[in-house]
Amino acid sequence: MSILIHSVALVATLLGATYLGVLLFEAYRRQRQLADLHEEEKAVFRARLEVVRAPLAQVSAQAQAWAGYRKFRLEGKVLEADSVCSFYLAPHDGRPLPAFLPGQYLTFRLAIPGQTREVTRCYSLSDSPGHTDYYRVTIKRLPPPPSVPTAPPGLSSSHFHDKLQVGEFLDVKAPSGQFHLDVEHRGPVVLVGGGVGVTPVLSMLNYIATAPGNREAWFFYGVRNGREHLMRDFLREFDAQHENIHIIVCYSDPLPGDRAGEDYDYAERVSVELFKRVLKVNNFDFYVCGPPPMMEALTRDLGVWGVPDDRIHFEAFGPASVKKISQATRPAAANTPGFELNFTRSAKKLVWAQGAGSLLEFAEANGIHIDSGCRAGNCGTCTTAVREGEVNYLSTPGAPVDKGSCLTCISVPKTALSIDA
Ligand SMILES: Cc1cc2nc3c(=O)[nH]c(=O)nc-3n(C[C@H](O)[C@H](O)[C@H](O)COP(=O)(O)OP(=O)(O)OC[C@H]3O[C@@H](n4cnc5c(N)ncnc54)[C@H](O)[C@@H]3O)c2cc1C
Ligand code: FES
Repeated sequence: MSILIHSVALVATLLGATYLGVLLFEAYRRQRQLADLHEEEKAVFRARLEVVRAPLAQVSAQAQAWAGYRKFRLEGKVLEADSVCSFYLAPHDGRPLPAFLPGQYLTFRLAIPGQTREVTRCYSLSDSPGHTDYYRVTIKRLPPPPSVPTAPPGLSSSHFHDKLQVGEFLDVKAPSGQFHLDVEHRGPVVLVGGGVGVTPVLSMLNYIATAPGNREAWFFYGVRNGREHLMRDFLREFDAQHENIHIIVCYSDPLPGDRAGEDYDYAERVSVELFKRVLKVNNFDFYVCGPPPMMEALTRDLGVWGVPDDRIHFEAFGPASVKKISQATRPAAANTPGFELNFTRSAKKLVWAQGAGSLLEFAEANGIHIDSGCRAGNCGTCTTAVREGEVNYLSTPGAPVDKGSCLTCISVPKTALSIDA
């Protein structure tokens, strides 16, 4: 017993994680208490001990995160709601999976028939980090936008839904991303998920339910109606089982068969007005992921309500998060009239002006293709060689950047530029 405790303590010291230390102490305390109990009580305590040990094991495994792509096998597909499916992925090499921080995502490289290039896309991990044998992502099939009904449907999401069969293999990068629950902090949180943007906050919710400490969590889930409501029974049970977790479901446009009080709690959008009515106080950390209009409204109104910026954490499934950062951060170069930009591969010379967005957005707006994944500086997919000139970053890169390259999704010109795109 004492050898076990010392080994685990050594890992904790090496990782230098306060969180691990707390878990270790808790595991030790519960192990000591176990010795004094009767058999029945011991069973209950053993179960609780596992709850403490599970995240401990995951944090220790963090060091085993892999570089580049790893092969995963699709083990199962579960339809969760209209056009939304969960995909269960097991590592082909059978080795245990490293932990991830609740809220992080996986990056997939897909060879889609008919496409000349591989397609890179990111999908949030939607289950708790407590599983070392599989990961789960939950994906919405994207139809053409209503304004362009003749456009092709979403490439990757249609591939996952319609083509990918159980037993097939996928290339997957290790979990990453900076939008994640602060697991060292134990203070109360408000988790907000809109539409399929619920996936990263589901992972946070699952984590809080299994982590020690009974952390207070309010989960506001916004969808249009019952057709879009993911994991309805699971969430209802979850709410009933955990005193520290409160689930509030909002339908913005309920269907005639949707039952108020049973399927949903409020027939309105998730808003700060609703937080005021339900929570009364704003003393929480807010984690928000949803469609851009919801994010814009919530992040703005939370600020007006007096929630400090550093307590508002958000992610959009696309460039919206980057746009918000770029509005907030004015790089020194932004006051200048513009910079000449030479896209060498496409043989295009253009002028980038303030307000033209990141290099990636600017390139796309001018018909120049640059591969992208997260569009938030985390996955490295948009890395492009800089032949001449310098860039300014709109946020700190989460992916390593080689000398002489830049992440185009989060950079703007600092000088005239010549880039390899
Ligand atoms: C960090 C992160 C996490 C994410 N997590 C999730 C998640 O958990 N679940 C999830 O479902 N998604 C998630 N996403 C979004 C996901 O990565 C993809 O962006 C999404 O699945 C769409 O990709 P796609 O290839 O299917 O669509 P794309 O092929 O990229 O198409 C996007 C849209 O454009 C339309 N379109 C295509 N061609 C045209 C055209 N010529 N004119 C007009 N419109 C056109 C398509 O019909 C579609 O509606 C996440 C994104 C990020 C960045
Ligand atoms: S697209 Fe992921 S880092 Fe730029």
